[in-house]
Amino acid sequence: MKTVAVIFGGRSTEHDVSIITALASVIKPLELSKQYKVEAVYIAKDGSWYWDDKLKDIKPYQSGEIEDFMHRAPKVHLLFDKGLTLVKSSQFAGRKMYRKIDVVFPAMHGTHGEDGELMGLLEMANVPYVGCDFRASAVAMDKVLAKQVAGASGVESNPWVWFYSRQFSKTPQTVLKQIKDLKYPLFVKPAHTGSSIGISRVEKVGELMNALEVAAHYDDKIIVEQGVQNLIEATLPIMGNDDPIPALLERPLTKPEDFFDFDTKYMQGGKKGKGSAKAGAQGYSELPAQLPKELCKKAEQIGLDVYRVLGCSGIARIDLLIDSKTGKVFFNEVNPLPGGLYAHNWRRAGISNVDLVSKLVSLAEERWQAKQKLTTSFSTNYLKQF
Ligand SMILES: Nc1ncnc2c1ncn2[C@@H]1O[C@H](COP(=O)(O)OP(=O)(O)O)[C@@H](O)[C@H]1O
Ligand SMILES: [Mg+2]
Repeated sequence: MKTVAVIFGGRSTEHDVSIITALASVIKPLELSKQYKVEAVYIAKDGSWYWDDKLKDIKPYQSGEIEDFMHRAPKVHLLFDKGLTLVKSSQFAGRKMYRKIDVVFPAMHGTHGEDGELMGLLEMANVPYVGCDFRASAVAMDKVLAKQVAGASGVESNPWVWFYSRQFSKTPQTVLKQIKDLKYPLFVKPAHTGSSIGISRVEKVGELMNALEVAAHYDDKIIVEQGVQNLIEATLPIMGNDDPIPALLERPLTKPEDFFDFDTKYMQGGKKGKGSAKAGAQGYSELPAQLPKELCKKAEQIGLDVYRVLGCSGIARIDLLIDSKTGKVFFNEVNPLPGGLYAHNWRRAGISNVDLVSKLVSLAEERWQAKQKLTTSFSTNYLKQF
């Protein structure tokens, strides 16, 4: 049986969301598949790593018992041995436990995990891992870089500008000049945060400075976007390496006034919508999106284009903003690890949770195998000349 290490938690504002993704949408179906031995690796909010079967249960996190556990539990060591081995001290003095890992399943959201940092570590260990690689993850989690890369391939976003926060503090007038051609409402966003943290919708120029200050508080890079008019939001989960397949185009039905509310996205399963709306991983949505066929097709093609040009593999979710009057589809952002894997959408598309995680593990192995064929050494006489 193959051993899969699921890594979750981490130094991110989305720490708690990651715990739920890991426990409910990854570990549970992996175990149900009976194909894998699952090791739970939890990264605490302070960045310490723990590895224990107890960490597969939601209760210690809910009750606060986790604090007690972390006080007593040994931390994990990582051994890079032509792959990855987890190591920890056991209760018996001097004894150590070792577990060789076949595949890692990162279940992290946000900073220090979803953004390529963890993937870089796994790449160094040369262990197969699920989802986007370190390059695609890093690009995807930078709202500026993602739009630059997509834009260079002809994928349009609504007009936007960007600058470093230090430019804003040093020469605010230059920054304001850069922004002045954008039409209100504007969206001011820190380049690297998720879950709407630090984002403002700015209706008029008088609100702009404050919004910029808020964004600068969260990030060293800021993007300001022109708001898409007659907005319809759409999101498309995609899975695969060389031949990616889309799930169903989904339309989140969040009301404008609730856009930036963490509670709306994650608590109470979202606020209730109407009609064919169903509770998804992040609130209520229309699944599949009830949009004209041509528009759906266009959105799907743009989603697949973005997936390819950003170098995504394994899984990702592409978010689009549609102007319902003009039928224009704009690229908004990529989520390399969609919350809960967006399993509700895959299920509707005919792929069960168990099949989804098994498929993702296979895709990780397939990408790793393809990489092993690349030459990484080169014989020279360079050393002999010294
Ligand atoms: N340019 C825009 N035009 C219209 N609405 C936007 C725009 N940018 C963001 N929004 C709204 O704000 C929400 C959050 O922005 P987003 O870029 O998706 O950040 P996050 O990383 O927090 O999900 C979007 O889901 C959308 O409702
Ligand atoms: Mg978003």
